[in-house]
Amino acid sequence: MSDPVSPRVRPEKPAGVLYLGIDLGTSRTSVAASNGVRETVASYVGYPRDVIARKALKKDVLFGDEAVRNRLALDLLRPLQGGVIRHSDGDPNSADAQRHLKATRDLIRHAISLARPKADELIYAVVGCPARCSVKNKSAIVEAVRPVVDSVMIVSEPFTVAYGLERLSDCLVIDIGAGTTDLCRMHGTMPTEEDQLTNEFAGDHVDQQLLKLLQAKCTGAVVTIHTVKEIKEKYSFVGDARDPVHVELPVNGKPTRFEIGAEMRAACRTIVPPMVDAIHQLIASFDPDFQSRLKNNALLGGGGSQMSGLRDMLEAEMKERLGEGRVVRVDEPTYGGANGALKIAHDMPPEFWEKLS
Ligand SMILES: Nc1ncnc2c1ncn2[C@@H]1O[C@H](COP(=O)(O)OP(=O)(O)OP(=O)(O)O)[C@@H](O)[C@H]1O
Ligand SMILES: [Mg+2]
Repeated sequence: MSDPVSPRVRPEKPAGVLYLGIDLGTSRTSVAASNGVRETVASYVGYPRDVIARKALKKDVLFGDEAVRNRLALDLLRPLQGGVIRHSDGDPNSADAQRHLKATRDLIRHAISLARPKADELIYAVVGCPARCSVKNKSAIVEAVRPVVDSVMIVSEPFTVAYGLERLSDCLVIDIGAGTTDLCRMHGTMPTEEDQLTNEFAGDHVDQQLLKLLQAKCTGAVVTIHTVKEIKEKYSFVGDARDPVHVELPVNGKPTRFEIGAEMRAACRTIVPPMVDAIHQLIASFDPDFQSRLKNNALLGGGGSQMSGLRDMLEAEMKERLGEGRVVRVDEPTYGGANGALKIAHDMPPEFWEKLS
């Protein structure tokens, strides 16, 4: 993607508009609204499997944790993968592409309803997408929001985080999500393609690794990816010193205790080397006179930034490979993207908006 903001034409900025910043994430969808509302929902959409399920659940569609809890009665979709709508790189008319597009649309509609818009308000939304999301992926997002909002702007995710914190120059943003880790260097202007890197070593990757390690370690235990994610969010760490990590997993129906500290650390650490490589690459290819400022202003955000010991580990790696490094963690990893997107919505002149309705 050559330009993180898609400039489109809209004649004027009307009154009676609810501005929304939406972080459409692989794991969580968060919304910050100009009426002060902030809400977040896990990015799951579930449709009752049959008439009995529909009767029992009394709903046609469930979202977030409620959908995960009732998953046995649902066709459960996680419509975003690697930060983009699943199957949006292939044939847009395939059944899978259509199913995931519909689920994304329902999820966005739900997220917007959480922001409690008034009946007559126009909705202008800025939506975050991964740093190097393809044109096709971006169009799919526009298609998903089309029936639900009046105007839209698609913006690169790490840029929204930087914008929200007013760190628009001399700053390296590292946003560790579920599907992707997005990096972006900010130097006072709109970042271009060379300023951004994305890799898929993020939260979901840690979950997959941890699942494999636990299956090997915890003989006889049945573990699902949902349990693994919960365990990770409670005990994640990457450092050397550690307390034992005890979890209970069912073995033949009976809760059984296992110590999984080494597995936890190994799984969490798998995303660090690609992250350090990406940091190195963005810094080494930057104007040498400004490299030092970037090294001393790395900003760590996204849900994955909460892994204990990560900040220290990145600083140590940067000192080793680049001579220096200072990393700060954002205060609000969940809303960083949505807050920044809302701020962009407020600040952008009318000609940047794509009018949809
Ligand atoms: N305490 C924690 N320790 C480690 N990981 C965590 C913790 N809390 C949340 N996570 C992980 O952070 C990820 C979600 O982060 P975030 O909400 O920023 O992602 P997202 O925006 O939905 O994903 P993406 O940006 O890839 O689309 C998940 O993988 C989640 O398991
Ligand atoms: Mg994200």
